[in-house]
Amino acid sequence: MCGIVGYVGKAPVVETVLEALRRLEYRGYDSAGIAVLNGRGIEVRKRVGKIEALVESIRRQPIRDGHIAVCHSRWATHGEPTEANAHPHTDCKQTLAVVHNGIVENYAELKSQLLAKGHRFRSQTDTEVIAHLVEEYAKREPLDCAFRHALKELRGSYAVCLLSKHEPHRLFGAKNSSPLIVGVGKREAFFASDVPAILGRTRRVVYLNDHEVVELSASGPRLTTLDGKRLHRKATTVAWDVAAARKEGYPHFMLKEIHEQPATIEQTLFNRLDAGKRRLTFDRRTKQFLDRLSPNEKFIVIACGTAYHAGLVGEYMLEECTRIPVDVDLASEFRYRGAQLGRDTTVIAITQSGETADTLASIQMAKAHGAKTLAICNVMGSSIARAVDAMLYTHAGPEIAVASTKAYTSQITALALLTLYLAKRRACLPPAQWRRLFDGLAKLPEAVQRALETERAVKAVAGEYARARNFYYLGRRYNYPSALEGALKLKEICPVIHAEGYAAGEMKHGPISLIRKGWPVMFVAPHSSVYEKVISNIEEVRARKGACIVIASEGDPAIKRHADSLITIPRTEEFFSPVVAAIPLQLFAYYVADANGCDIDQPPNLAKSVTVE
Ligand code: M6R
Repeated sequence: MCGIVGYVGKAPVVETVLEALRRLEYRGYDSAGIAVLNGRGIEVRKRVGKIEALVESIRRQPIRDGHIAVCHSRWATHGEPTEANAHPHTDCKQTLAVVHNGIVENYAELKSQLLAKGHRFRSQTDTEVIAHLVEEYAKREPLDCAFRHALKELRGSYAVCLLSKHEPHRLFGAKNSSPLIVGVGKREAFFASDVPAILGRTRRVVYLNDHEVVELSASGPRLTTLDGKRLHRKATTVAWDVAAARKEGYPHFMLKEIHEQPATIEQTLFNRLDAGKRRLTFDRRTKQFLDRLSPNEKFIVIACGTAYHAGLVGEYMLEECTRIPVDVDLASEFRYRGAQLGRDTTVIAITQSGETADTLASIQMAKAHGAKTLAICNVMGSSIARAVDAMLYTHAGPEIAVASTKAYTSQITALALLTLYLAKRRACLPPAQWRRLFDGLAKLPEAVQRALETERAVKAVAGEYARARNFYYLGRRYNYPSALEGALKLKEICPVIHAEGYAAGEMKHGPISLIRKGWPVMFVAPHSSVYEKVISNIEEVRARKGACIVIASEGDPAIKRHADSLITIPRTEEFFSPVVAAIPLQLFAYYVADANGCDIDQPPNLAKSVTVE
């Protein structure tokens, strides 16, 4: 959460950093601010609300330009979203400006020490202590030493950038458990929370590790440890291009990303699935990791939000096809449940961003307990990608909308690859069934493309139900997670609606009491081994006059008489149905939210990457 940008170079700095910050707005958007070093010293401007409010203020009353600046979009943790609490924060004399993402857990203690020394605070944030701490140390030592000294005092997480009036050609930055990357351009360099910020200026990125300190000049980064020991690291070139970080004619990133799914699934399969030879493979490290798993291996999948729902689908896939026992846990719960981990346990993290605080902490805990670790992750070089023993990148490209869509279907695709690879190695499936599933996986992009053809029908159904304020989403087995995910999508982007996902068989154990005339219930009921059971659940709702919206497979003439509204998707193996069903569920949420005038890409109170616990 929170987006950070720092820039040093020859380009007009205000425009450059604001452009980069706009590409990070998905990370937090309750206030924004900028600090520019110009002929007047450090000039700071902050506004409550989205980045556009800051841009508008600068348009009306321009800031004098310079060549070095930091800026920030905030997702409040300590202190309300006010102008005073917006970043950048400065020291007493406004010679330093700091932007920060994370939580300084010992800020209260540090603040009272600094207050006792005469420092004057202007905000209620934890971040402001960093500016005053550096100011305090800089009374006695050069700025780089003072910065390191201050960092050593901080407990908690941080990605921080520092601008000083006395250092017109260098910024300072560091990270610990919060993301920060360096972009290296032509005679210019950036700090940023995430790669999309710098796409369009450069694709050369230096990934930072925790406790590393960077002095950034236009010629590039100089890395050291917290103790000042020099480190050397080459920039890597990222594959994402700038189009991926633009709407490209779509009204919202979410809609664009929904439409990208045939291509992103193809990307997840690329170089791993050889359709001609009916063969699956992974990069050397991942393959070795999988080939060395014990015959008694146990998997624990950990994730948050949408990624957790992908993990639940993976549980059905892996247990059915590989007979490996699988537990799926919310990362925020796993950390505290005292799970029994050992050498024969693999903890699998699923995460789009690779930065989710609870998922990262769970992986660190798993490693400390001797478990093996694997991640299914979208962002190269992210903290989780670097922490685990083996990686399965989803290659879905940058996901900008807060609501996860293409990352979800790519995560399930990666789980399908993993399942079929292990099923073959362990000879767990009859060969004909394995071949059927393999062929289904190879054709998944095509099935998803066809599922997108439901868009017009889904939009019409969404229009019919847009005024409802409560929804249930129900499904069974592979599509129980689909129900959870469909409900999450709707309530996430349409905050005037409450939606709840349940296992369809659970209805009569409580939730059915709420059903009354016209109460909308979305059933995910494709062709499957539990189809008849789901039909019975539909009838239970209809008997109470609930309105059933049913997602069913093409070629199911019987379903019509059970549905008030019907959406048909291509028929696939049950194994793949959560991917295909995800498309109308995402589109439904999108069009209901749109009809309600919601801020689809940036729903209130949310941030794309949850880097605090
Ligand atoms: O980056 P991650 O996949 O680790 O993020 C996990 C969740 O925060 C995320 O899936 C969240 O639930 C989405 N906004 C849902 O659309």
